[in-house]
Amino acid sequence: MPQVTYTSATGDVDVLEGNDGDSIMEIAVRNGLRGIVAECGGSLACSTCHVYVSEEDLPSLPPMEELEDEMLDGTTSERRENSRLSCQLTLSADDKVHVETPESQV
Ligand code: FES
Repeated sequence: MPQVTYTSATGDVDVLEGNDGDSIMEIAVRNGLRGIVAECGGSLACSTCHVYVSEEDLPSLPPMEELEDEMLDGTTSERRENSRLSCQLTLSADDKVHVETPESQV
């Protein structure tokens, strides 16, 4: 099963497991993780699921579509080179991914 390590802006670390096909957002929300709000429930309309993906994990994730790219320009916390919207990052069974949640989502 996919495993995601979430590190908060203050350094708290949570390691959570999901199911094949889950997004990084879904695993976080299902487990009540603070740091990912996901107001729109994954319909790419809010950008409150913003995360910073570790550089080594970026190539293994689904490529960024144009709308996600546009939405990332409206995040509350600064956009970085490794910014992604976690609702768009679906994982396969063997994936192990590290992400950092931003200081603020809203
Ligand atoms: S949950 Fe709203 S854009 Fe990802």
